[in-house]
Amino acid sequence: MKVIHVTDTHLVAAGEKLQGLDPLERLRLCFKDIATHHSDADLCVLTGDLSDCGQTEAYILLKNLLTALPMNTSLLLGNHDHRQRFCDVFIDTPRDSHGFVQWSQTTSEGVLLFLDTNEPGTDEGVYCKQRHEWLRGQLAKYNDKPVYLFMHHPPFDIGIPDMDALRLRDCETFAQTLASHSNIRHLFFGHVHRPISGQWQGISFSALHGTNHQVPLLLNKDPDNGLFAYCQEDPSYGIALISNDTTTVHLQPFLHRQPVYYKRG
Ligand SMILES: [Fe+2]
Repeated sequence: MKVIHVTDTHLVAAGEKLQGLDPLERLRLCFKDIATHHSDADLCVLTGDLSDCGQTEAYILLKNLLTALPMNTSLLLGNHDHRQRFCDVFIDTPRDSHGFVQWSQTTSEGVLLFLDTNEPGTDEGVYCKQRHEWLRGQLAKYNDKPVYLFMHHPPFDIGIPDMDALRLRDCETFAQTLASHSNIRHLFFGHVHRPISGQWQGISFSALHGTNHQVPLLLNKDPDNGLFAYCQEDPSYGIALISNDTTTVHLQPFLHRQPVYYKRG
């Protein structure tokens, strides 16, 4: 199974720039690259911060752009999103009984769980009692299948103070819930605007650049100095190749990826 991972698209109104860059044009180039090189993918997942300010116009732009992709797509919310405005545009998006944009999908290689960590009024991720009950039920239901998790916020520190201050809140309950299941194969998240991989509680994880601006690798910055840093490292998307015993995640920058051929000697 091939799953494309795209995150933190931060769309604004057409023609507007964000951090000196054009999010709409960059996402168009990203989708063009995916359609050109990975039309055989089973799914493309966008792990939140689809818009920069939760604008309806941004969601309409995204809906139009998505028509360039030949595969099915799954859209998650991030802290920059607005749940109701998103759902008003993407009217077929799955929601749980409490209205959260989270659902499960059964595939040939296991079950994909999509979690909603958006909470109005904060940039931190939230895992409330209702979401906990939902996840607990899903993990119990699919206890005998490989499970892959997708969410916006990381549930642990990544070592960048600015981002650690905005990770998933209430992560102890989340961690305990996952720890009681041995079938969780991989955790995909966004939010951090950086390529990161590793292992948490025995679960492998990966995150990647946003498609517009990035977060610099500032491991010692004071998160309380009132300034938030960004940088213009090249954007990328991920390609996850998933089989019964292996999850391989490739990172693909898409702005300058055309090979240049030359004659040796
Ligand atoms: Fe973001």
